[in-house]
Amino acid sequence: MSRIVKQGLLPALLLCGLLILAGCEGDQGPQGAQGPEGPAGPPGPPGGTSEFTFAGYQGEACLHCHGRTVADVRTTGHNFAYAGLDAASQDLPYCLQCHTTGWDTPIAYGVTEFEPSGDDVHGYDDYYGVETTVAASRRDALENVQCESCHGAMGPDFNAHTPNVVFSTIVDGEITASCMPCHEGQLEEWQTSGHGTVGGLTHEEFADEFGGASCRGCHTSEGFIAAHDPVYASYDFGGDYNFIGCVTCHDPHVGEAGGGNQAQLRAVGAVEVVYAPGLTPGDPEVPRMEGYGAAQTCAQCHRARRDATNVSGQINNGSSRFGPHGSPQMDMFIGAGSYEIPGYAYERDHLHKNIDDACVKCHMVREVLLHGELQDHSFHTFTPDVGNCVPCHTGITDFDVEGGQTAVRNKLNQLAVLFGYADWDVLMENLNADNAAMSSWQREALYAGVFVANDGSHGVHNPAYAMDLLDNAIAYYQSHITQ
Ligand code: HEC
Ligand code: HEC
Ligand code: HEC
Ligand code: HEC
Ligand code: HEC
Ligand code: HEC
Ligand code: HEC
Ligand code: HEC
Ligand code: HEC
Repeated sequence: MSRIVKQGLLPALLLCGLLILAGCEGDQGPQGAQGPEGPAGPPGPPGGTSEFTFAGYQGEACLHCHGRTVADVRTTGHNFAYAGLDAASQDLPYCLQCHTTGWDTPIAYGVTEFEPSGDDVHGYDDYYGVETTVAASRRDALENVQCESCHGAMGPDFNAHTPNVVFSTIVDGEITASCMPCHEGQLEEWQTSGHGTVGGLTHEEFADEFGGASCRGCHTSEGFIAAHDPVYASYDFGGDYNFIGCVTCHDPHVGEAGGGNQAQLRAVGAVEVVYAPGLTPGDPEVPRMEGYGAAQTCAQCHRARRDATNVSGQINNGSSRFGPHGSPQMDMFIGAGSYEIPGYAYERDHLHKNIDDACVKCHMVREVLLHGELQDHSFHTFTPDVGNCVPCHTGITDFDVEGGQTAVRNKLNQLAVLFGYADWDVLMENLNADNAAMSSWQREALYAGVFVANDGSHGVHNPAYAMDLLDNAIAYYQSHITQ
């Protein structure tokens, strides 16, 4: 029904435009004539039941029931994977294997002739080079990366609506992600990252430690999806929780039009600091990270976690988990979210705030030679590289720019000595056991040190705020002991 209306409307609008161009004014003219019929739909399967298994055609067959999803997926790069190949590559099996749907015969670089694998799903490879009309229309149907590349074959007449839906990337050493084998490069990098190793925990140990309701929103793939995708808010994941992997950060149904951004990233909205004394969540005054594109996804998890009640409880009574959670990187970056000693000044602004895509720019993006020209490419080791600093800090060989990290380490040690420890590492080892016996003014100074240490960048994320937190803590401590 709605299609018929649209087809009639478009020519009418065009007609209107022409009238305006011709300089006519005054009342709206009469409605234009019914436009021509739209183009014919894709050819259906030959015969009722089919010998092939994919519905194909970029989700045409799913439109009726999953309209919004189909529209969103059609805005992603996957939808143009075949169209983006040049004419010569559109005929190269090596390229086609990752740029079409259902190709299940692995092709080595340089190979142009092959036998389709016997174990058949009737994907693009089975029609490659076959000169029949059916084969030609099947190739049309299977261009690009489609729904069924990830969800499995479902065509053509829905005797098989049993979609695969996978939230994990690797389980007990087995690759489970539906992104493979097309994205092996990203997988290999991810495996070396903190997200991919989690300190060597096994699948079961991991699910036990991080599957709980208060942890899984940041520590597991399923928990993060449930927290950020309304469709999954109350989904039953069967108690199975997995490492942060491909579909934790990427939602293949989020194209730019679907509210995400260029890399199918989910959860790119603004993130508020949780510790904002005197302000209620949602208040425009609450400090927040906003407008950093892809880095907004990182900020959803890499934040300090402690709210005003929790922080004041820690300062007044001590805590067996003293300080912010081990992840105050977002808070540090925007210059907020630590306990701040009343009467002291804190600088929040710094020049790294001008770096677009903040976290992602320093931790992932590198310039590499691709197709003969230098281009930005995102690496999934998530470790920063000095190459990312060089455009602004010429000639450096490590992150200790102008001794900035050394200065932070020295101040942490200085603070630890005031507390009576040999250095900051010794303080951290005894932190949770010892802080209960301290005075609350000591814990005021201590919180800042733990915040800077847990951030892990030794000042790089915000040289100004890190320095003020430490300088103020040291000055405050000294003012108490010299009284
Ligand atoms: C006739 C309507 C209809 C059509 C056509 C249809 N689906 Fe579905 N699909 C549904 C319904 C209803 C559900 C939710 C049922 C459920 O929760 O299992 C669903 C669920 C799904 C799910 C989620 C399953 C899960 O375990 O959460 C996926 C993935 C999916 N469909 C993919 C597709 C794809 C791809 C196509 C096209 C090739 C398609 N569907 C065509 C009705 C349809
Ligand atoms: C192993 C799978 C695989 C093979 C084989 C493959 N590609 Fe790709 N290609 C990808 C993936 C995955 C991406 C997107 C991810 C990325 O940027 O790393 C991509 C991206 C591209 C892009 C888009 C680049 C851009 O910046 O938009 C082009 C063009 C392309 N490939 C051409 C080719 C050609 C030509 C061949 C054959 C010589 C080929 N690919 C072989 C998987 C493959
Ligand atoms: C690149 C892989 C990939 C492609 C392409 C893809 N999906 Fe999915 N789909 C997933 C994954 C992974 C999930 C579960 C996690 C999620 O939704 O973020 C999922 C979940 C779903 C769901 C259930 C959740 C929801 O949002 O309703 C439906 C329905 C669905 N897909 C339909 C489709 C349709 C229709 C297409 C094609 C137009 C498609 N998918 C293309 C990987 C993919
Ligand atoms: C059949 C092979 C194939 C599968 C399966 C596949 N991809 Fe891709 N992917 C590609 C190709 C090819 C491109 C490059 C498309 C282009 O730009 O021309 C791409 C591009 C991308 C991009 C770049 C952004 C964009 O929209 O272009 C992201 C992110 C991505 N894929 C993530 C995933 C994830 C996550 C999965 C698994 C859930 C997945 N892909 C499954 C082949 C695949
Ligand atoms: C707001 C998101 C978030 C929540 C909720 C969360 N974590 Fe974390 N956690 C993180 C991030 C991000 C890291 C990684 C920080 C890093 O490596 O610098 C982390 C690190 C850790 C570490 C590593 C040690 C450390 O302190 O650096 C442990 C252990 C941990 N979390 C346990 C938990 C437990 C247990 C829960 C539930 C009670 C939980 N986390 C809830 C985000 C969160
Ligand atoms: C912790 C979050 C996270 C995880 C986990 C993750 N990605 Fe990404 N991915 C990103 C971000 C952020 C970008 C860069 C976006 C940008 O540059 O705009 C990206 C970029 C990409 C791109 C585009 C690469 C390019 O050419 O710049 C592809 C393809 C991709 N990811 C695939 C994957 C696959 C496959 C996995 C699983 C092995 C994965 N990602 C895991 C966050 C993640
Ligand atoms: C879903 C939550 C989540 C998202 C999104 C996320 N991280 Fe993480 N990140 C974690 C957790 C939790 C850890 C600790 C390892 C683990 O348990 O996976 C971690 C570990 C890390 C580490 C290693 C820290 C160490 O101590 O070795 C780096 C670096 C990192 N993340 C950077 C990023 C960047 C950059 C982004 C955005 C592209 C990002 N993360 C997105 C949760 C997340
Ligand atoms: C100016 C570049 C830059 C920006 C922007 C940036 N980082 Fe970092 N990050 C670094 C450097 C450099 C380190 C320290 C690495 C070292 O000393 O080995 C670091 C350390 C970290 C660590 C601790 C790693 C570890 O081994 O303990 C995490 C986690 C992290 N960053 C996440 C983030 C997140 C999340 C954001 C965005 C809110 C972000 N970073 C923004 C450069 C940056
Ligand atoms: C877009 C440009 C830009 C990039 C990229 C950048 N920085 Fe900076 N950084 C600056 C500017 C500007 C300053 C302030 C310089 C000043 O005031 O002396 C600064 C200051 C610093 C400081 C404080 C120095 C001091 O005097 O205490 C450190 C440490 C630092 N950067 C480390 C890094 C590291 C490590 C990277 C790469 C991971 C990096 N920066 C990437 C622009 C950049």
